[in-house]
Amino acid sequence: MNPSARPFEHDGIAFGCDYNPEQWTPDVWDEDIALMSEAGVDLVAVNIFGWSHIEPRPGQYDFAALDDIIGRLHAAGIRVNLGTGTASPPAWLSRAHPEMLPMAEDGTRRYPGGRQAFCPSSPVYREAALRLVSAVVARYGDHPAVALWHVSNELGCHNALCHCDASAAAFRRWLQDRYVTIDALNRAWGTAFWSQTYGDWCEIGTPRATLSSRNPGQMLDFHRFSSDELLSSYRAEAEVIRRGSAAPITTNFMVTAHIENLDYWSWAADMDIVANDHYLDHRLEDPRAELAFAADLSRGLGGGAPWILMEHSTGAVNWQPLNKAKAPGEILRNSLTHVARGADGVCFFQWRASVQGSERFHSAMLPHAGTDSNVWREVVELGGIVDRIGEIAGSRVVAEAALIFSWESWWATQDDSRPSKALGYLDQVHAAYGAFHSLGITVDIVAPGADLSAYKLVVVPGLHLVRERDAVLITDWIAAGGTALVTFYSGTVDEDDRVWTGGYAGPFREALGIHIEEFAPVGPETALPLTSGATGRLWSERSHVTTAVAEASFTDGPSAGHPAITRNAWGAGSAWYLATLLAAPDYRALVVRLADEAGVRPAANVRGADDAFEIVRRRGTDASYLFVVNHGSAPLHIDADGTELVTGAPVCGTAEVPGGAVRIIREEAAA
Ligand code: GLA
Repeated sequence: MNPSARPFEHDGIAFGCDYNPEQWTPDVWDEDIALMSEAGVDLVAVNIFGWSHIEPRPGQYDFAALDDIIGRLHAAGIRVNLGTGTASPPAWLSRAHPEMLPMAEDGTRRYPGGRQAFCPSSPVYREAALRLVSAVVARYGDHPAVALWHVSNELGCHNALCHCDASAAAFRRWLQDRYVTIDALNRAWGTAFWSQTYGDWCEIGTPRATLSSRNPGQMLDFHRFSSDELLSSYRAEAEVIRRGSAAPITTNFMVTAHIENLDYWSWAADMDIVANDHYLDHRLEDPRAELAFAADLSRGLGGGAPWILMEHSTGAVNWQPLNKAKAPGEILRNSLTHVARGADGVCFFQWRASVQGSERFHSAMLPHAGTDSNVWREVVELGGIVDRIGEIAGSRVVAEAALIFSWESWWATQDDSRPSKALGYLDQVHAAYGAFHSLGITVDIVAPGADLSAYKLVVVPGLHLVRERDAVLITDWIAAGGTALVTFYSGTVDEDDRVWTGGYAGPFREALGIHIEEFAPVGPETALPLTSGATGRLWSERSHVTTAVAEASFTDGPSAGHPAITRNAWGAGSAWYLATLLAAPDYRALVVRLADEAGVRPAANVRGADDAFEIVRRRGTDASYLFVVNHGSAPLHIDADGTELVTGAPVCGTAEVPGGAVRIIREEAAA
């Protein structure tokens, strides 16, 4: 986190929403604000999609409605998270400048009529957006209601990868900065292959659709460039704001689900406070574990500092194939899981459910049914709890284990021409994280190259692309006494996507004590039994141990007889390796062994859970806070002492957490 970051100061945990009053008439605004107060809402994001309202004609501003709304919110004691309004350019801009519209990889334009219809490298867009930001900052820069600036909205959600001529020119400039000479670029991209050698910068374009697979180095650099390009858009807006306002600045990240285009490790230091949007993704095997993972990653992006959940939903979204409603109590469980994992703000998309536009079937705090609804009652209940637990704000999550996560590995794993399309990077990450989550062990998510000295156990799932220095940092940490689990496909390529030779796992090979000769992936229908009784899937390898001990081997499939799980004593520590994707119960059993070996435990003893649960401790200066979320229907019991903050009841030695409930125990002496 940037040491000169402006602090987001708020009394307790922020509770709020996106508010789109432009979709309603002013008489509705009165009711909105009265109900916001009833629910305890104290932070409201406005002007997120305001551009065509506040600048209806080029250079003609009309702030009357926004003045009115901000004034009303302020009068009600509700603070404003003020959007710069640049997320969806008005029709007049793209009509005058159709060249600003984004272009897909097949060379076709994407048109206005949705949102984010701009090329991130478009000078026309950039200039018009900054003019708008200047006007908004001039008007509200020192307004007492403004608690936070919200730059654009989910930058890169739809338009991250643009292939127009302006993008190609910007890509070339980015490449010249990175490589300086065309020879260096040719070496990095391996253009000797298929006669792809470039003689001049002007010959290079974005990786548009080709007949065959594309150059992997070019694809990887295009990802890096595209992430940097949107970050520069954020920086340009933030610079304008900084000149005219003292309030902190952020933008809402999209960690992680299926949005892989932005390397948030390189963005996070620019945020005064990290903010994330999270929606349960019911296309995943375990959406709840992914929620916990995304929350832990949001915390990791800020180096462990509290962050804000800028958006989540009270119920169904409208953009998955099947949009599921939440179960009774799930709003509380989801929201408080984010708080347990470090959020100091809980906000929703959106306040009042739209009746028009493409999000009219998206849930909201105030549903179409109105206040006579379970959603509304749970929103009010949550607002009450958030209010009661305000003392937790500023405390930090305690973790003894870490997981190394890399957007670059995500990009490289999923580009064209890899060993298997059946396996995605997130599948490996989620499987590893899910094993820890099912045991209630808290995990920090850290970047490659992060200092690991605070941890006893580190998992490195599928870190396909790795720089030598980042691998050495991990193996040195193991040698100093750490326990690590490295999983298959890690250490396969360097930062240019060039294969590490001499046996896969490259810079991890020696510490792991194995020699991997060949990858042998299998289809989703094939089970891979192991000698230990566990079952693997999707991946196997032909390898032999050098100094490691094989803990389990494949008994069947293309790698029968070869090691599947190995353990190598490396210095004072141990380096484990996993060569297949274990079934969930088997992964869990492996993590139990590793945790025992490393001396890592859940935040407290849990007994009787019949389903997944969360147990996380946040530590403050005077007390610790033990969060327990029971996703099951049976009560569970934990060992704890202190005061339970949801019910106000004292806890002596043990606490019962009823099925579906959340309990937060203040432990007086910092544990
Ligand atoms: C994103 C956007 C919001 C809204 C929600 C719907 O998070 O930021 O404007 O579209 O998705 O889930």
